[in-house]
Amino acid sequence: MFNYKIIRSFLRGIFSKRNPIYAQFAINSNCNLQCRMCGQHQLAQSEWSSPSLLHKQKNILSLNEIRVIAGHLQKMQLPFIVLTGGEPFLRKDLAEIVKIFKDHNITSRIQTNGTLLTEKNIQELLNLGVVDYSISLDSLIEEKQDYINDRKGSWKKALEGIYILSKIVPKRGNFSVINTVVSDYNLYEIPSLVEFVNRIGFSHSLIPVHTKDKNKDKNKDKTRYKNLDKVKNDQNETFRSQNSSVKVKHSDHHQIDEVYRQIIRLKKKGYAIHNSKHFLKESIQFLKTGLVNSKCDSPYLYFHINSKGEMASCLDYSNGYSMLTDDFWSKYSSGEIQASLKSTIENCDGCMYPCYAELSYLRRKRTVFIERTVSETKKFLRVRNEYSFDDLLGWVSELNSKSIYNQDKNQPKNQNKNQNKNQNETITKNSMVVNS
Ligand SMILES: C[S@@+](CC[C@H](N)C(=O)[O-])C[C@H]1O[C@@H](n2cnc3c(N)ncnc32)[C@H](O)[C@@H]1O
Ligand code: SF4
Ligand code: SF4
Repeated sequence: MFNYKIIRSFLRGIFSKRNPIYAQFAINSNCNLQCRMCGQHQLAQSEWSSPSLLHKQKNILSLNEIRVIAGHLQKMQLPFIVLTGGEPFLRKDLAEIVKIFKDHNITSRIQTNGTLLTEKNIQELLNLGVVDYSISLDSLIEEKQDYINDRKGSWKKALEGIYILSKIVPKRGNFSVINTVVSDYNLYEIPSLVEFVNRIGFSHSLIPVHTKDKNKDKNKDKTRYKNLDKVKNDQNETFRSQNSSVKVKHSDHHQIDEVYRQIIRLKKKGYAIHNSKHFLKESIQFLKTGLVNSKCDSPYLYFHINSKGEMASCLDYSNGYSMLTDDFWSKYSSGEIQASLKSTIENCDGCMYPCYAELSYLRRKRTVFIERTVSETKKFLRVRNEYSFDDLLGWVSELNSKSIYNQDKNQPKNQNKNQNKNQNETITKNSMVVNS
């Protein structure tokens, strides 16, 4: 939840560029899912949650190490941090981590796949002031989400997690977001997902899928995705997936325009779509070509802390500076670290991760600044309605029955194609308009 202190630090960061306003911290690189578009998971866990296994892995910082990092962030006057992973809820000491940041005047928000949320852990975090979450949801179709996550039962658990959150976090002025990665798996389904998220009363952030071209990256910049050949066993060195099946196929490029036209229309109608219009328009080109027009403001406006405790330009680069060494602060305050990260950033092709790109737009584009100021104010005023889990399931089946994605397009590849045949016969290719 934003307060006066955060807003002040935020504006100071935006206008002065002297104090970063945001850092993402991968508090572990392990995950209980293995999403097909993600290279972040190091270890697919055989159980939903297996802390003993987790703590045997390297790359898990101790609470004392996290305390050292929090001390540096406090000196930077960082107003808030996003705790991410892997899956942050795999750490059983998550509340203690949040407490460390709170003690250093830093507000935490948490990025999660939602599968490990319980009333108990959310309440515990709420008591420490954590009210804002980003929860991933890429499909309303159970089989498809399970396919994307490569984990049976993940859709149901994520939906339950979203429901638990909706019950516990404040109904008024909450800044929680549902994250959807737009890819070949779900392009046709996006307008329905937007409608669903609007009904459940959260904001919706649409992230165009990021992939990596192995050969291109290898030639361009050896620091990016080093160990490419062993990437399967060493996934924590990477973020973007090499799985090219997630890219929207060329034959569907015209549908990207149509889908985004609808998203922008829904946004104009007042749907709580977190992305700026500029970001949505740029996403079209990015999904088709991978090209980006914006400039990067890392590490001055934002940066990433990887699971080894290194300050890196962002989650795409494995090279960073340990924040645990005695000379970190002197090197940071002299600008030495920022200067050396700059060469990586200057050689980067760019990205459209909303957490980075939107902040750069906010800083550089007056239209985006005005639009975001208005939409964030509306979020302050918005009140989420109460609903039951059955309501939620009812909306899912209503939207699934209306939508184009029930045809073969965007179906999980291992699903029986005849399964939905009858249902699909009445659905035309352009019936993805959400009737609202
Ligand atoms: C790496 S996850 C970590 C937090 C948590 N496990 C989750 O899934 O939300 C953070 C976000 O990155 C998104 N993501 C994963 N792979 C991506 C990709 N190739 N391109 C863009 N976003 C991606 C996820 O969907 C999620 O919203
Ligand atoms: S997107 Fe999140 S849940 Fe999925 S594999 Fe990556 S880290 Fe895990
Ligand atoms: S533009 Fe490049 S360096 Fe900057 S945040 Fe994006 S991927 Fe990282």
